[in-house]
Amino acid sequence: TTSGASASAVEKGNYRHFMQKEIFEQPTVVAQTLRSYVHQANNTVALPQMDFDLSTIRRVTIVACGTSYYAGLVAKYWFEHFARVPVDIDVASEFRYRDPVLEEGGLALFISQSGETADTLAALRHCKAAGQTIGVVVNVPTSSMAREADLLLPTHAGPEIGVASTKAFTCQLAVLAALAAHLAVKKGRMDRAEEQEVVKHLLEAPAALNAALDHDEDIASMAHLIAPARDVLYLGRGPDYPLALEGALKLKEISYIHAEGYASGEMKHGPIALIDEAVPVIVLAPSGPLFEKTVSNMQEVRARGGKIVLISDAEGLLEAGEGCLATIQMPKVHPLIAPLVYAVPVQLLAYHTACVKGTDVDQPRNLAKSVTVE
Ligand code: AGP
Repeated sequence: TTSGASASAVEKGNYRHFMQKEIFEQPTVVAQTLRSYVHQANNTVALPQMDFDLSTIRRVTIVACGTSYYAGLVAKYWFEHFARVPVDIDVASEFRYRDPVLEEGGLALFISQSGETADTLAALRHCKAAGQTIGVVVNVPTSSMAREADLLLPTHAGPEIGVASTKAFTCQLAVLAALAAHLAVKKGRMDRAEEQEVVKHLLEAPAALNAALDHDEDIASMAHLIAPARDVLYLGRGPDYPLALEGALKLKEISYIHAEGYASGEMKHGPIALIDEAVPVIVLAPSGPLFEKTVSNMQEVRARGGKIVLISDAEGLLEAGEGCLATIQMPKVHPLIAPLVYAVPVQLLAYHTACVKGTDVDQPRNLAKSVTVE
C-alpha cells in the first residue's frame, strides 16, 4: 500500500474491519482537519502560507479519480456559489486527453487520498507544464503530489487502510469548504461575518457526524433488505448529487451489487425505465431548498412501484417518509455540511450490505488501495 502506513502498523482495535473503524473515526479526524484550517480566536479560515495571490485566480480546474473526484464535484458547488469562480472538473483519466483549455490565472486543484494515483499525478504534471498554479488536497503528506504542489492542503484523516475510501472523503470536503470560503473572501465575495458563519457551520460537522453514526444499528438491519438486490439506484440533488454517486460506488466496490447514482431530476430522462419492485432506490434528501423537488422525483419513482429508502432529517421524514420501504434519520444540519453528514449513511449501508453478503470488505476483489498505473 502507498496509503502512508501498512495495515500491520495500524490496529483494528475493537472493530471488525478497517473500513468500519475508519467510518467511525470521522468525527475525530474531521475535527482534527478543521483545527488546522480555522483560526480559533476569531472563527475565520486559516490556510497555509502561499507564494501566490489567491485573489488573482480566475478559474479552478479540479482533477481527481473515484471518491476523491466526487469530493471535487461537491466542491464545484461551493467554489461557484461562494467565490463565483468558474470551475472545470474532470476525472484524471479523461482530463489530459481532451486537450483542456488552461489559461493564465488558473488554479489546478488535485484531490487524492494517497497522493500517488497515476492518472491524477500525470494530470498534475500536465497542468504544471502548462503554467497552472498547482493546489493539492492530499492525505499522505510525503506523497509525490504533496511534493509537487504550490499549495499543499493536507487532510488529517490518518492512515486509511480500507480500500474503500471513507474518512479521507469527509476530510477532503472539510478542506475544500474552507478553501472555497477563503477564495470567496479573497475575491471580495464574502465578508468577515459570512466567513465566520461558514466556519461556524463547518465546526458543527463533527457532532453531526456523531449523530449520524448513532444510526449504525438501524442501517445494519436495513442492509438485509438491500443485500438480495441485483441493482440499486441512488438519487440526490445539488451538492448531495455527488453523494448519490459516492453511495453507488461504495456499494459496487465492496458488496459487488450493481449500483448507479443519478441526479434526481434526471430520472425521468431515462433511468426511471429501470424501476420495478426489485430495484431499491436510495434517496438522499436533507430538508432545505432542494427538498421539495427531490421528493417529487421520488414520488415519480414510487408511482412506478419503486421501493424507496429515504435518508433525511426528522422534518423531511415527517413530510415524505410514509410509504417508504425504510427510512434513515439524519440530524438536521446546515446545507453546507449535509454532504459530509450524508456520507455516513451511504458508507454504513455499503459496509453492512457487504457484511451480510460476506465479501472481503477491506480488500475487495480486483481493487488496489492506490492505483499507480494509468
Ligand atoms: C474509493 O472508495 C476508491 N477505492 C477509489 O475510487 C479511490 O477514491 C480512487 O482510486 C482515488 O484514489 P486517491 O484518492 O488515492 O487518488
